[in-house]
Amino acid sequence: MNQENQLQNKIAVIDKEVTWDKTQVIMSKTNAFGIIEYANEVFVDVSGYEDYELMGQPHNIIRHPDMPKVIFKVLWENLKQGRNFHAIVKNLAKSGRYYWVITDFEIAKDENGAIVNYFGRRQSVPQEVVSLHIEPLYKKLLQIEAASGVEFSEKYLIGFLEEKKRSYVEYIKELIFEHEKAQLKFAQYEEQADDEEEEERGFFRRLFNR
Ligand SMILES: Cc1cc2nc3c(=O)[nH]c(=O)nc-3n(C[C@H](O)[C@H](O)[C@H](O)COP(=O)(O)O)c2cc1C
Repeated sequence: MNQENQLQNKIAVIDKEVTWDKTQVIMSKTNAFGIIEYANEVFVDVSGYEDYELMGQPHNIIRHPDMPKVIFKVLWENLKQGRNFHAIVKNLAKSGRYYWVITDFEIAKDENGAIVNYFGRRQSVPQEVVSLHIEPLYKKLLQIEAASGVEFSEKYLIGFLEEKKRSYVEYIKELIFEHEKAQLKFAQYEEQADDEEEEERGFFRRLFNR
């Protein structure tokens, strides 16, 4: 049994979200092999692990079994090339609860250009983006992996993105951008409705002279 399985077997997965302050940034630093060397307080709070339980552990300590392998395959292919990567990831807290994040990486190299550290920053993802777009896609990828392996989940992902004429990163950036645009429109609509209501009240105040 490999370390990943050992770590995951200790945790009973619960279909409940971690309650956390979604304005915060979850941060960690690893060596070139993804071994955790530092985690900020937010990481500790949200994951539910103590610092001493995280340091020296592989980052898959928070890997959720609902995550398709192919997403991490693409993530590592990019990181090893020294490229940033934005992935939407479901993480597993020590309690067995989950938390969804979007990643952002910085890559530190030595004077010879060899990668020495990765810095991962994660922020929360709008629930709607997850439930409408990401969960259905990941579920499919996971099913394909279970039936035919990661080779075919990758082929499916490539086909899915080809149809959308987007890379994975472009696709998720667009999902979030579209969500934010819709939120803004809704806020403007609410503001306009408030203004109209205020105008109406003013009109009656003037009309009845009070
Ligand atoms: C800086 C950094 C941050 C990472 N953050 C996460 C994370 O938040 N969740 C996660 O499941 N994997 C994360 N990974 C990827 C893990 O190293 C690992 O590839 C993943 O959990 C899948 O496990 P596996 O590669 O053993 O299949 C991160 C890797 C690096 C280098």
